[in-house]
Amino acid sequence: MKLRSLNRLLFLLCFNLLLIGPAFSQKKASDNILKIMKEAYELYKADKSGKNADYIPYLAKVDPNLYGITVVTAEGKVYELGDTNFEFGIESISKVFVLCLAMQSHTPEDIMQKIGVNATGFPFNSVTSIELQGKKAVNPLVNAGAMATTSLVKAENGAAKWKKINDYFNKLAGREIKVIDELYQSEAETNQHNQAIAILLQSYNAIYDNPLESCDIYTKQCSFGTTAKDLAMMAATLANNGIQPISKERLIETDHIPKVLAVMATNGLYETSGEWLYSIGLPAKSGVGGGIIAVAPGKMGIAVFAPPLDEAGNSVKAIKTIRYLSDKLQLNLFKAAEH
Ligand code: DON
Repeated sequence: MKLRSLNRLLFLLCFNLLLIGPAFSQKKASDNILKIMKEAYELYKADKSGKNADYIPYLAKVDPNLYGITVVTAEGKVYELGDTNFEFGIESISKVFVLCLAMQSHTPEDIMQKIGVNATGFPFNSVTSIELQGKKAVNPLVNAGAMATTSLVKAENGAAKWKKINDYFNKLAGREIKVIDELYQSEAETNQHNQAIAILLQSYNAIYDNPLESCDIYTKQCSFGTTAKDLAMMAATLANNGIQPISKERLIETDHIPKVLAVMATNGLYETSGEWLYSIGLPAKSGVGGGIIAVAPGKMGIAVFAPPLDEAGNSVKAIKTIRYLSDKLQLNLFKAAEH
C-alpha cells in the first residue's frame, strides 16, 4: 500500500518535471536571446565606422544613427531592439527571395546552368566577373545574376511578374510590403550601370526575358521598404525549412532551402563572403540600404539594420552585431555543440 502511493508520488513528480522542464528551458533560452541582443546593442550603438551608400542619392540621406536588431525563431517568437520598425530599402536582400520565387518554376539544376552558383570574388556590380567566368551572370546574388534571376520568374508580362514578386514578399514578411517611391525614382535615375549589365547578358544569351524590363523590375524589388522585423521574418522562413513561422504557410520547397543557403554562404557578402563565413559561420545576405540577414537553420532568422557600410557595401554594425550573436548563441554552423 505504502509502496504504491510512493510510486504514484514519483510518477506525478516525473510527469510534472517533463511538463515544466521544457517550458522552463525555453524561457531561459528566450531570456538569453534578448540578453545577448542587448549586450550587442550596447557594445555597438555608438560605433560610427562606415559610411552610407551614396551612389543611390536617397540612401545617402538616411539617418546613419538608426540601429535595429530583430530575431525571429523558427517557432515564430520575435525579439526586437532599437529601430526595428523603420522602413528602409531592402536592396540586395531581395535577391535571395526572388531566387526562391524563380525556383518555383526552375529546378536548382536550371539555376546552376543558366546563372551559376560560384563565388565571384568581385564587387556586386562587376562586369569583369561576367567576362572572366564564362560569359554568364555567375551567381544569383550579384547584380547580374539577380537580374537574370528576376528574368526567370514566370509570368505573362512585366506587370504580372511584378505583382507575383510583390505578393510573394507580402507572404514572406506577413504584411503588405510597399515600394519606397522616392527610393525607386532615385535608383531608376542612376541605374545605367545595371542597364548596361543587363544588355551585356543579353548579348551572351544569359538573361531570359526583356533585359531592360528585367533591370527595371529588379530596381523596383530593391526599393521595397522593409523593416528589420520584416527581414527577420523572411530569414526565419528560411530557418524554418520554408514555412513562414507565423502563418505556417509553406513558401519555399524543403529541397530548395539548402541550395539557397549555399548560395548565400558562397556570395552573400560579395568579395568579403569568405571573411564573413570564416568569422561568423552562417549563410547571410547584405543590402546597401544597411540591412543584413543571417539564417541559423532550424533555429532562427536574424536581421540587423544600420546604414553605414564598409567598402564592399555591407553594414558595419550589422556585421559586428551578428558576429556577437553567432558567438554567444553558438550559432556557427561549422562548430559542433559543446556537451
Ligand atoms: O543594384 C544596386 O546597385 C542596388 N539596387 C542594390 C545593391 C546592393 O544592395 C548591394 N549589396 N550590398
